[in-house]
Amino acid sequence: MTSRRSLTPSAARLTMSLRDIGYDFPAAVADLVDNSVSAGARRVDIVIEFDGSASRVFIADDGSGMTTYGLHEALRFGSRQGYKAGDLGRYGLGLKTASLSQARRITVVSRRQGATRPLITARTLDLDLIVELDDWIVVDPGRTPEVDRAREMLPEDGGTVVLWETLDRLLPEQNPEGGWARRRIDALTAKTSAHMAMVFHRFISGEVGEPLVITVNGEKLRPWNPFAPDEDARQELPRRTFEITIGDVSGHVSLQRFVLPSRDAFSSPAEFEKLSGPLKWNRQQGLYIYRADRLVQWGGWGGIRGIDEHTKLGRAALDFTTDLDAVFQVNVAKMRVTLPAELRPMLERPLTELCLRADDAYRKTSKRSTGDKGSPRSESSAERHTYGLALRAAAMQSGPGDYAAFKRIVESLRSSAPDIVSDLGLE
Ligand SMILES: Nc1ncnc2c1ncn2[C@@H]1O[C@H](COP(=O)(O)OP(=O)(O)OP(=O)(O)O)[C@@H](O)[C@H]1O
Ligand SMILES: [Mg+2]
Repeated sequence: MTSRRSLTPSAARLTMSLRDIGYDFPAAVADLVDNSVSAGARRVDIVIEFDGSASRVFIADDGSGMTTYGLHEALRFGSRQGYKAGDLGRYGLGLKTASLSQARRITVVSRRQGATRPLITARTLDLDLIVELDDWIVVDPGRTPEVDRAREMLPEDGGTVVLWETLDRLLPEQNPEGGWARRRIDALTAKTSAHMAMVFHRFISGEVGEPLVITVNGEKLRPWNPFAPDEDARQELPRRTFEITIGDVSGHVSLQRFVLPSRDAFSSPAEFEKLSGPLKWNRQQGLYIYRADRLVQWGGWGGIRGIDEHTKLGRAALDFTTDLDAVFQVNVAKMRVTLPAELRPMLERPLTELCLRADDAYRKTSKRSTGDKGSPRSESSAERHTYGLALRAAAMQSGPGDYAAFKRIVESLRSSAPDIVSDLGLE
């Protein structure tokens, strides 16, 4: 080695760039709740307060808390931290990047569980100070009314409170005190509740570990399970497990498939509405991808098939463990994964089977609601569509060679009789 130089990154530039790593407000809050879950919290209180330009957010947990040393390490970009299998953390960045994506000033107040001296430590990352000094600085915030509130929210026997202030990404620069700003904060609060109830539903319901209590502005969240576990008319298809090995990484992926009841088979219209989900029935169909039991991506079929009105009752849980993080390419914001290419062909057939069943459940309702008595002349497009799906399934069942031939036939039909292809739903 002839010459070597150390090029320290510019704290000012890098911190500003990291603000745009791709979080939205609910995802940023969820990344902090991940930290609370990893710290063993049983309760997380999220408080979102509108107060014009002084609006603020508190995220308080009763987890393990941190020592002063631990808190300094937590605020380092790229925390030096080892992970166990199943840990929700991965990059050593979330606390900083998620917080700064929404706020210019973050304060963490923590009290270590089981410490002999119940010391409370508070430290602040202030973007304006980092930019001014071009250095990765943390400071002691001293006692401000907000820090005092955070201290009061800390449980007696340990926990952590994260405080976001100067919410420049949420509030308009002009008139942050106005009605528009207030409505925006209210809307984000509602969106955050729905998001938490969905992405942490297995933790809230106690499906994994002790039940986790999450409150948003004092209201306790009820879990939103996309698979309607309490509906008697729900159908479940056999569970599948796949083993995947890519390079030197290998692990298991599991697939659980459900056909939700159609509107008239639901226990009540209100439950049907509730199960529609934040994106509504059509866009909530498809794969729900869970990493270590935390939902990271949902809506749509991961590029394996398109969203279709006829298959809107089909939903499937795809679970992977953190040892497969690299092959699922989980992003820093934990908002997006990529289905490994090796997994796609394995999923095709079980998902086609699910969609056939979902289409069937949908068709039965549309038949009932149109009073269709099944006469050949009143055949609906949904019904013709099912003939196409049945043909495709039969071709699949008769073997890969026949299915390849079937696809060639559809291809040639596409140029000679595109209407029939479309009528049969074979595009
Ligand atoms: N609420 C909390 N309670 C206890 N420790 C915490 C809490 N939040 C953060 N920490 C500590 O700070 C560290 C850094 O958190 P940060 O979210 O930045 O990274 P990470 O969780 O390790 O990885 P990722 O970037 O994937 O989120 C954590 O590993 C954990 O040790
Ligand atoms: Mg984290």
